[in-house]
Amino acid sequence: MRYHADMKKNLAHVDKKQQLASLLGGISPEHFLADYWQKKPLLIRAAIPSFQGLLDPNELAGLACEDEVQSRLVIQQRGKWKLESGPFEENRFAKLPETNWTLLVQSVNHHLQEATDLLQHFDFIPHARLDDLMVSYAPDGGGVGPHFDSYDVFLLQGQGKRLWRVSEQDDLSLVDGAPLRILENFQVEQEYLLEAGDMLYLPPHVAHWGIAVGDCMTYSIGFRAPAAKELTQEFLSFLHDDIASMQSGAGNMYSDPDLELQNQPAEISAQMVNKVHNILSNIRWDKHDVARFLGKYLSEPKPDVFFDTPKPITMKIFTERLKKNGIQLSLKSQMLFHEEYCFINGELVEQASADIEAIRMLANQRKIPPQDFYTNALVTQLHAWYLSGYLVFSKQ
Ligand code: SIN
Ligand code: CO
Repeated sequence: MRYHADMKKNLAHVDKKQQLASLLGGISPEHFLADYWQKKPLLIRAAIPSFQGLLDPNELAGLACEDEVQSRLVIQQRGKWKLESGPFEENRFAKLPETNWTLLVQSVNHHLQEATDLLQHFDFIPHARLDDLMVSYAPDGGGVGPHFDSYDVFLLQGQGKRLWRVSEQDDLSLVDGAPLRILENFQVEQEYLLEAGDMLYLPPHVAHWGIAVGDCMTYSIGFRAPAAKELTQEFLSFLHDDIASMQSGAGNMYSDPDLELQNQPAEISAQMVNKVHNILSNIRWDKHDVARFLGKYLSEPKPDVFFDTPKPITMKIFTERLKKNGIQLSLKSQMLFHEEYCFINGELVEQASADIEAIRMLANQRKIPPQDFYTNALVTQLHAWYLSGYLVFSKQ
């Protein structure tokens, strides 16, 4: 039995290696990270050779009509750019011009299992850096105009063809007053015509403009990198929450039994400043605090994400189904870990060492296969996450 399981594991490993070789155009992930990631663009022909997309334009438009889905329409009319934000009425699409517009839908991976599966091809970049899968549809001439993004992106072509104009120009000034970020002086340096399955990697701040050549759909695998200012503000707010739970008893009060007579009663004395300075110098943090903060912050769902909670089931029924089906993260769940800390959707759980392997498997692969043996602590934890809508049973 064990021999068989190991063989399967090795085969999966070979498959994954082959998939990655084609995804990155024959170069290894190590080579990609060393020479391209955050450094220079890379065009990969037939990155996913038979890729034709995961959904059709109608299905994409359907998603753009839903309340909890972020979507945009960008329309180019007489040299001007117009932006409309979703959710859209169904009849909006019938009124659009024949050409020169595009529909963009964010976080398609929250709604489509195949989209989450597609993101798993990009596991050579840490999950903590991944943002989402955005899908766009455009008829001939459609696109979002010349712009730059602050994040890394893999632009994977679905159905149809798109002409990408790319420039590593330094001038990133934007058109003033435009409803979307349009570069004022876009100087094309390279042009690539992408067909289904081709992919273009762009590091942050590389100027680009994708123009649909006939009807086309593009899948953007987008990454994120928090700004230092945002990280600092968020960390201070994390510390603030920690401090809020501090005891405020008699021993923790400002006190001055050594108070000396002041000539000027309105003066804040040097003695008082020193005392408060001493209290505040107790604010300290170490790498464990940073790790706890980072995991909570990076796994926190975006404000528009809501989890669908299932009909409650007892622990007994849950355990039976767990053993039969195995369990997986629901599409909207984000799970990360650092040492014994495990983070799911902005919550921190310290994991017992007996369960660390299973928890890490769930975080890395987004699923745990059916097994006969789980510790009680693990089943209790998984049951609670299931009831919160963070997990769903795997399909058999
Ligand atoms: C698109 O899919 O048209 C836009 C993707 C991008 O330029 O980032
Ligand atoms: Co872009």
